[in-house]
Amino acid sequence: MAQSIHIDTHLPKTEIYKSLYTQIKALLATETDTIANMANFCAVYKDAFKPLWVGFYLVKNNQLVLGPFQGPLACTRINFGKGVCGTAWQQKKSMLVPNVDEFPGHIACSSLSKSEIVVPATNNKHKVTFVLDIDSENLNHFDQTDQIWLEKLVKLI
Ligand code: SME
Repeated sequence: MAQSIHIDTHLPKTEIYKSLYTQIKALLATETDTIANMANFCAVYKDAFKPLWVGFYLVKNNQLVLGPFQGPLACTRINFGKGVCGTAWQQKKSMLVPNVDEFPGHIACSSLSKSEIVVPATNNKHKVTFVLDIDSENLNHFDQTDQIWLEKLVKLI
């Protein structure tokens, strides 16, 4: 059955996240397939916040491999410890990058990307299984509010 999400994009960011969290939780609860849930997550997030790029990289054979996303063409494989995504995987922690040009080793999939947030997801053995990556065309776009809510949201997938 088709489902729709209603987001008032004029609300303050925290309110959008609150509303998004409740609705995404309900949406994803009806589907157990991780890729399907990642795909719908990207669609909903893109609608709500209009980032340049939102998507996932999945850990496969000791590399991050591109998964579902919305936005411009992206690089398909990232090694452990490389770029913002590989660093989030290595350090098992979220990376808030206010200016990608100042992040050593940043992998520029799009020259339009100016700031970025990457949130890793771990399984019950504390292994990273995928990362969520969101890119903005604006400097300093992401803050602690995004980090807190995105860390909650990845747990739903
Ligand atoms: N900038 C990322 C690579 C992925 S793209 O932004 C979609 C990085 O440095 O890991």
